[in-house]
Amino acid sequence: MIQLALGVIVSACSFKDSNTSPQPNSTPSGLVIDADASQVTAAVGTPLHHAQICAQYLGPIPAMSCADATLMPITVDGVEVFETPARCDRPSALTGTCETEERIAARYTGTHNDGSPRPEVVFVNFCRDGGMGVIGHNSETGATCFFHINMRFPNDTLHPGSNDPKYDDYWQSADLVAADNCQGCHQADPWLHSPWIDQLRDPHDSSLPLVPLTASTDSPYFVVGDGFTQPYNVGAPENSCTSCHRAQCDTNFAVPLGELIMPAPFGDSTFIDSVSDDLQELRDWCATLPEGQQRDTEGGEGAACETALDCIYGCGNNETCVDLCVATNFEGDRLTALRDLVNCMAEAGCGFNEACLDASCGAEFATFDALCE
Ligand code: HEC
Ligand code: HEC
Repeated sequence: MIQLALGVIVSACSFKDSNTSPQPNSTPSGLVIDADASQVTAAVGTPLHHAQICAQYLGPIPAMSCADATLMPITVDGVEVFETPARCDRPSALTGTCETEERIAARYTGTHNDGSPRPEVVFVNFCRDGGMGVIGHNSETGATCFFHINMRFPNDTLHPGSNDPKYDDYWQSADLVAADNCQGCHQADPWLHSPWIDQLRDPHDSSLPLVPLTASTDSPYFVVGDGFTQPYNVGAPENSCTSCHRAQCDTNFAVPLGELIMPAPFGDSTFIDSVSDDLQELRDWCATLPEGQQRDTEGGEGAACETALDCIYGCGNNETCVDLCVATNFEGDRLTALRDLVNCMAEAGCGFNEACLDASCGAEFATFDALCE
């Protein structure tokens, strides 16, 4: 089985300039939730449960409203228009459309439980069609949560945060959010850039886009929440398209973002003339991913092994991220075996990549692998 698993799965990341030193503040237990995190008190399956689990890694989820969002300018041939045109200079990548007068996104800095600011945690909301989706991301640990309102109230009412008992009335449970496969599109890292959304600037520093720029092959990223799987990266081609950031399929978007002149932020909409071999190779791999991008977590063997490898290879050599990713996805014997594997790789010091796993920790992998079946 180990032969098969290692033979079939080609590492997505080669970590060419990898930082191999172990993280100083991770504990052997692997569980590094915030020291001041509140207890999880809500019943499993409730919206508040999702928020409280996430708050352990991100701090309290803030109250948010689309009233805070910034108005998206729409231009045609460089001139701003105020009625929705049939085409525009920078359509939304999600829809391909150019609606005017829409308040789209706001950015909130995270806090610790005592209310003090926590700049490594950022929340961004996204307002479309009366809905409000939210991404919260901790750029130090990689912990990421997706949220969506339950649409009972208009999206420009203040939707309470995780310390407010009314939370359940306003937000969806983890399972409902997960059914949307947010991480299927938000794949390489939490934040998606497009010429459309990059028109929005950070109100505190207009030289920066509103949506944070964090992409690198080393940026830690894993998804927390019941029903969510990890974003795909195992098996992605190693070429120029995976040299600056992990694999990002653009095949689910109405605008072919992979054909833009890289890197983001995309100040203008300049596309390459023809699909390059590297982009084609990436798209061929994207076409092999399951429909809807959701891994079959009910299925035994393959799914568990792949999730573990996505944790190990997808965390950009950040041991805290790998620890947290396995701790939130596994329990019992599998978790114990995975922690042994992760500790082995950390001690081997050759990076969280396939070559290191193969060369130094084959026995530990085999123990886990036997439990995937
Ligand atoms: C079909 C692909 C797709 C899915 C699925 C998806 N998104 Fe997005 N999302 C996008 C695109 C594309 C953008 C960038 C804006 C644009 O150009 O339309 C975006 C932007 C966002 C933003 C603004 C910050 C950023 O990264 O640009 C948030 C927040 C967001 N999405 C939340 C969610 C949540 C929450 C879910 C799941 C409930 C989700 N998205 C599912 C494609 C998707
Ligand atoms: C020079 C570095 C660089 C190279 C090479 C590069 N990209 Fe990007 N790309 C970026 C950055 C930076 C972003 C913004 C990502 C972020 O911060 O979340 C981006 C964004 C994207 C996006 C928009 C969605 C998102 O994740 O924000 C897609 C799709 C994408 N890249 C695909 C590709 C493909 C396909 C190739 C190969 C043809 C490629 N990239 C090569 C730097 C690069």
